[in-house]
Amino acid sequence: MSMPTQQYVKTETVGRIGRIRLDRTARYNALNRTMVREIVEAMETFDRDDRVTVIVLTGNGKSFSAGADIEEMLEATPISMELLDPFADWDRISRIKKPIIAGVHGFVLGGGFELALACDLIYADPATQFGFPEVGLGVMPGAGGTQRLTKCIGRTRALEWLFTGDRMQADEAERLGIINRVTTDVEATVLAMAERLSNQPSMALRLIKDAANKAVDLSLQDGMEHERRNFYLLFATADQTEGMQAFLEKRPPIFNQQEQE
Ligand code: HXC
Repeated sequence: MSMPTQQYVKTETVGRIGRIRLDRTARYNALNRTMVREIVEAMETFDRDDRVTVIVLTGNGKSFSAGADIEEMLEATPISMELLDPFADWDRISRIKKPIIAGVHGFVLGGGFELALACDLIYADPATQFGFPEVGLGVMPGAGGTQRLTKCIGRTRALEWLFTGDRMQADEAERLGIINRVTTDVEATVLAMAERLSNQPSMALRLIKDAANKAVDLSLQDGMEHERRNFYLLFATADQTEGMQAFLEKRPPIFNQQEQE
């Protein structure tokens, strides 16, 4: 499956893992519109690729990302943004079906933090600094920051970070449940987790992600009905037969065999 042209990201497939590295290191991986488009297109390409089960997103150089490109934003007007609709690309990230694991280090600020929050699992280097400095620029997060942070840690706690723009250290992000874990070797941790997930049944991963995302938006009852549909659907997969048969035969299951053929 061929990747679209890339200027600001690097991609590769390692086994069943689709890797995306941000690559605008001279600017701390500040996200201009082209770069966001490239990230999204890389994710979508991996999402469509049957050989890929899980997507890994990491920074490069000194940081994950210092946020949206301020130079590019300086010239923006309400009308130019209405016409360009820059957030349409961001919305496409929410529609990626496969698990996305973010490995972050250095600065994870503004749009960079929003990008990490749009992923499914987040592992961070101990020296990582998270934050929403937008308020200091006279604006606010626009790619889900106020929504995802609030849903994650609650309104009162989120507002303090959003009002002040203070930097949050990695251990605090872990304590608040914003990230999964602080690790001294982010690269090894994300790849080990990706490797584990790539051996899990791919359709189950997909429908688990879908159901967990619904939990954020729906009422408990609606969410549970959605969950049930996904549960039923998995009984149409070879992995369900394999997983249950393997249990009864007291052997480890081998998933995704059909896709490997
Ligand atoms: C454009 C940026 C940038 C950014 C860094 N650079 N962040 N350019 N947009 N967000 C550039 C600098 O201008 C500089 O370019 C080079 O990267 C290195 O940065 P320095 O500031 O010289 O490095 P340092 O002193 O180490 O400070 C690092 C930093 C600081 C703490 C990350 O750069 C910083 O505060 N950046 C801005 C962070 C921010 O406010 N992010 C939120 C953006 S708003 P030159 O050419 O001088 O070498 C946002 C809104 C999202 O994200 C809305 C939805 C998309």
